[in-house]
Amino acid sequence: MKAPAPSDTLMEDIVGLCKRRGFIFQSSEIYGGYNGFYDYGPLGVELRNNIKQAWWRDFVQCRDDMEGLDSTIIMHPKIWKASGHVDGFSDPLVDCKESKLRYRADQLFFAPVRVDGEIIGYVSVIECIDQQEVAEKAAAEMKRKMAKQGELGTIELKEYTEAKPEQYELIPSPATGKPGSLTEPREFKLMFETKVGPLADDSATAYLRPETAQGIFANYKNIVDTGRVKIPFGIAQIGKAFRNEITPRNFIFRSREFEQMEIEYFISPHADWKTLHREWIDTCTDWLVSIGLPREGISEDIHPEDKLAFYSQATTDLMFQFPHGEQELWGIACRSDYDLKQHQEHSGKSMTIFDETTKEKYVPHVIEPSLGVDRTLLAVLSAAYTEDEVPNDKGKVEKRVLLKFSPKIAPVKAAIFPLLKNKPELVEAAKKLYEKLQRRWNVFYDASGAIGRRYRRQDEIGTPFGITIDFDTIEKDGTVTLRDRDTCEQRRVTEDELIKFLDEQING
Ligand code: GAP
Repeated sequence: MKAPAPSDTLMEDIVGLCKRRGFIFQSSEIYGGYNGFYDYGPLGVELRNNIKQAWWRDFVQCRDDMEGLDSTIIMHPKIWKASGHVDGFSDPLVDCKESKLRYRADQLFFAPVRVDGEIIGYVSVIECIDQQEVAEKAAAEMKRKMAKQGELGTIELKEYTEAKPEQYELIPSPATGKPGSLTEPREFKLMFETKVGPLADDSATAYLRPETAQGIFANYKNIVDTGRVKIPFGIAQIGKAFRNEITPRNFIFRSREFEQMEIEYFISPHADWKTLHREWIDTCTDWLVSIGLPREGISEDIHPEDKLAFYSQATTDLMFQFPHGEQELWGIACRSDYDLKQHQEHSGKSMTIFDETTKEKYVPHVIEPSLGVDRTLLAVLSAAYTEDEVPNDKGKVEKRVLLKFSPKIAPVKAAIFPLLKNKPELVEAAKKLYEKLQRRWNVFYDASGAIGRRYRRQDEIGTPFGITIDFDTIEKDGTVTLRDRDTCEQRRVTEDELIKFLDEQING
């Protein structure tokens, strides 16, 4: 698949297709929608499950050094105190007092506008793919409106978190364009709170987990005590996470309820963690390519040492070229022994492991590859979305929209068509094949409409293969026509060849 070029309409096209064809809906749509929450329809849930199953198979079932886990969403509140989330899991929030809109200060940018070196005002812009261009236009407009003569200085955007107190009053709100209504940034807690049990006081306060990782740390001892794990080993978990994001945006990229696929990979404190970290970055990149993301669309963002949390040795994010720009897809962090030591201290339970090889006891260090299911799904959709032109049944060239999903993760693997729906012998043969394939894969039967239209409907949902039963199938040799979604090429195959081919493409 190609790396998607950032475009103004690609996100709109994807959102439109997802709704039209039943992949993703805005949550609570009949009540006007609920910001930051999304529901997955019939095709979306298949795609989502296929991504999760591919991840689980490749990272848990196919590895001897990995164990699986499914911990609860609500856990003892002390876990979040020990992990540091209760006190520190927040984002900097800025209010616009006039419009009542809220911004994340690290996603709001400002710059002084200088003419011949003199500051004539400030511009502000919300993080976006062309933020520099937007800010420069706003600066030129300010100069024009104020009828200033002279040379416009370079616009150097800075995060609002870096603004000095005397600048808060001067920076315009992106909502109103006027200065004076933005507050100074304050920390906004991202964990959703709830109450557990019949009491409504503070002692009943609990949290919806903002990451699955702490469920792994909290169960580390159980797995060490009950399994046959040897250092190095990992614990993997897939599950929902919740964050009260200030500005959920860009469709399912940043939402308030999402799902994570996380691994905590425990290593010796004496291990060459830099090499192991590099190996994890490469393994994760290869996995993204294996599910159909273009290698050229993936890049690495190495966090500078001075920006790392005090306990972190290194973090590299795998970035993907999303429709709204290059953004984090997969975080791969070396978190030292911080989390286990925190839980050891707060719970009073030993988190040490006995290393059979070196005959030592220690609290292991950890490498944490943490990936969002929803973000992966958006990356897959962005890379798969294609428009091309192909001839219709009458030979006229028409525009076509298709999703070039890898057969591994495509929601529908193949569609089975009788050439004509009013010929019972064709229908019977097609249904027989459909029922046979249905026992192995998610396949679709469609008899209605011209064959070209039926192909097109499947192309749009990314079904990689079309299988047509015609008169040659029932009268001659039993072969069927196998059509390739991307090339539209057709060839005749026997049923045995068909099943072998599908198996190789889907499971191989
Ligand atoms: N345990 C580490 C952790 O949670 P993170 O960078 O906050 O690290 C890991 O999140 C991954 O989870 C991200 O790289 C992203 O794929 C996904 N993710 C985080 N916040 C998200 C959100 N609000 N909506 C969708 N996905 C999100």
